[in-house]
Amino acid sequence: MPPPSEPHSISIVLHWAIALLILAIFPIGIYMAQTHTLELYDLHKSLGVIAYIIIVLRLIWVFWKGEIKSIAENPREKALAKFVHRLMLILTFLVPTFGMMYSASAGYGFGIFSWRIVPLNLVNGEVLPLSPLLKPILLLGHEITSYAMMLIILGHIGAAFKHHFLDKDTTLKRMLGLRTNR
Ligand code: HEM
Ligand code: HEM
Repeated sequence: MPPPSEPHSISIVLHWAIALLILAIFPIGIYMAQTHTLELYDLHKSLGVIAYIIIVLRLIWVFWKGEIKSIAENPREKALAKFVHRLMLILTFLVPTFGMMYSASAGYGFGIFSWRIVPLNLVNGEVLPLSPLLKPILLLGHEITSYAMMLIILGHIGAAFKHHFLDKDTTLKRMLGLRTNR
């Protein structure tokens, strides 16, 4: 069977835009939740909504053009890569979806910097949850999916380095858009 073709430049740009955003949003999320730094909530949510838009664009792109196929020759490794990539595609969608639903249900709302998409639910100067029932469930959903996603991403980064440094194949170079002479 001929080896899979190089990833499309749009797949590469979408992958790295999402990767960089997630690698910034995740530590901001942990830090702000622990220290309750209010200004960081706005930054976290704004970057999260921007990431969500790019994630949806990537999903449309993947449905339209197909997934990036692993160049691994071992069928087990190929199947594992496919499974993990699909899991990441699903989790990257779920994490910001839970985040937005939580912020809306808690009454805090969200937006992209000064552009409010869902406004604050202020009643007599107090922020009231839209759904006190769903609020803790959606927060738990956001926490569980974001930690699960980060664990898988760490494994994914480890796998990329294994391909590059141990197997010495072109898996990482292709994803960086470098010519691999194949
Ligand atoms: C941080 C968030 C990241 C996410 C959510 C993510 C997700 C994904 C997904 C879903 C794919 C499948 C291809 C696609 O449709 O885009 C993929 C491929 C790939 N990613 Fe990532 N990635 C992340 C970070 C990274 C980092 C930091 C590296 C490198 C150190 C990396 C290296 C790769 C490589 C080499 C492939 C191609 C794998 C192959 O050909 O089998 N990724 N990534
Ligand atoms: C890919 C994007 C995102 C990632 C990786 C992410 C990750 C995280 C993480 C790791 C935490 C800390 C959880 C904890 O330890 O309690 C957090 C908290 C939070 N996130 Fe996100 N998040 C993302 C997107 C969003 C979006 C789009 C929103 C809303 C618009 C949002 C709203 C929140 C809020 C309000 C908290 C604080 C919860 C609390 O007060 O405990 N997140 N996020």
